[in-house]
Amino acid sequence: MDNDSIICNCMQISKAEILEAVNLNDLKTVDDVCDATEAGTVCGSCHDDIEELLGEV
Ligand code: FES
Repeated sequence: MDNDSIICNCMQISKAEILEAVNLNDLKTVDDVCDATEAGTVCGSCHDDIEELLGEV
């Protein structure tokens, strides 16, 4: 998955945007990412992908 991949289709949030928010704000959980970026706040189907990204950082 490259950094331009869209992780959250509903909100059009890319992997790079999520990683940046995680690094800047020291986010730990999917809920943290939802609050910070709005990724994952609509249908929720991207939660597994967000979880996977959190495991990479
Ligand atoms: S794809 Fe992320 S909330 Fe729907």
